[in-house]
Amino acid sequence: MKNKSQFVCSSCAHVEPKWVGRCSQCGEWNSFQEEVIDRKKRPTRDSNGPKPIGEISQSAYERVATGIGEFDRVVGSGLVRGSLLLVGGGPGIGKSTLIMEVCGKLGHIAPSEKILYVSGEESEGQVADRSKRLGIDSENFFVLNETNWEKIRETLKSLRPSYFVLDSIQTTSSDHLQSTPGTVSQVREVTYEILNYCKAHSITSVIIGHITKDGQIAGPKVLEHMVDAVVYFEGDPLGHYRILRSIKNRFGNTNEVGIFEMTELGLREVADPSKYFLDLLSKDSYGRSISCIVEGSRPLFIETQALVIENKNGFGRRTAQGIDSGQLAMLVAVAEKYFDTPLSFSDIYANIVGGIRLKTREADLAVLAAILSSLRKIPIPDDTILLGEVGLTGEVRSVPMPQMRIKEMERLQYKRLISSKRMAKEFQDLVDFPIVGIEKAHEIDELLFR
Ligand code: TYD
Ligand code: MG
Repeated sequence: MKNKSQFVCSSCAHVEPKWVGRCSQCGEWNSFQEEVIDRKKRPTRDSNGPKPIGEISQSAYERVATGIGEFDRVVGSGLVRGSLLLVGGGPGIGKSTLIMEVCGKLGHIAPSEKILYVSGEESEGQVADRSKRLGIDSENFFVLNETNWEKIRETLKSLRPSYFVLDSIQTTSSDHLQSTPGTVSQVREVTYEILNYCKAHSITSVIIGHITKDGQIAGPKVLEHMVDAVVYFEGDPLGHYRILRSIKNRFGNTNEVGIFEMTELGLREVADPSKYFLDLLSKDSYGRSISCIVEGSRPLFIETQALVIENKNGFGRRTAQGIDSGQLAMLVAVAEKYFDTPLSFSDIYANIVGGIRLKTREADLAVLAAILSSLRKIPIPDDTILLGEVGLTGEVRSVPMPQMRIKEMERLQYKRLISSKRMAKEFQDLVDFPIVGIEKAHEIDELLFR
């Protein structure tokens, strides 16, 4: 039978018989890749027929804690033996560094267990350089530069490692398929093969996968349902912080993040993130404010900066870093309307310090305050936190998980919280510092700049 081809969307794996410009499933443009339909039938795993549920022994997961607290927390107190973890992230963010450090720790915990690190991205020399720099000296750490799955499998067979890392899924391909590495069908095929092989041999495996800049994942997204756990490594490659976020976990919860700092000597754990971020504050200058967001189950204090400057050539531009540009535009509109400040001819820059990305609206009030502070040229006191979502009528709303944040503010000795009326009413009794509740955002003008 002649092999036919089909077109597969690289962001959601939707299939069309003909090439189309835009995916009808996920809306992505130019995401279709041509792939040859593979007519060979795959062998399926044999089952031994149904069993009464009481006779099936419950599997007790054995977890291996790496000792890197921020990593262990995110994967759920350590790697589950025999499981498959997918680590996604943008290029240059530190995926290889992170997993290599994990390997270094594993090598110390059980020196007799072998680790195989397969890199299709870098030469063996490059991998060795990096591992030296990270101080990894395990004897049973093996590195292989290979992109062909069948050859990798041969190595797994002969070496019999306990841990296997594939860096990355996009550079690996199977002879089984004719399509090029990185296509949806290759990425899926290789993952399926790894799953089968590693589950059968109880090998704990980690697959590294790239995601593109706009968060669209050519690969990892279509793998999420196949693997046991998915974590994403995020951050601004030019900034220092990295956030490891759990997206899926068959063996634990997903509401966790780990925070790291990229240094000359690899990744450093940031165990007390609130404090850490505070050390970076640029004191006594206007155009900045502090807010408290929640990442996973931990409160984080962030600094928002804004710069408002007259555009001498006409209408002003808005430039947002770490905050959605629509959200910034809306806050600027609120400022214009309710603070009686014409901003059409001003350029406005807003930035969240440290490469943090705001995913929610809880720092709206802080962003607005930073814009006004820049405009009025009056600094906001360092011991003041601004917290709340701002709506189109300028109203200030409460945020989720208020208690957790308030407790953390108390621990770090903040002196004042400006937030919604409801926050003040419900939580003032819990803390010693004043919670100033406001109804409308423009009230901060009076509170902070008069
Ligand atoms: P890398 O792990 O290669 O990223 P990824 O695998 O996600 O593409 O590391 C990314 C960057 O981190 C690299 O450009 C250099 C930097 N880096 C450090 O700053 N310190 C270090 O100790 C290491 C190993 C890398
Ligand atoms: Mg890499």
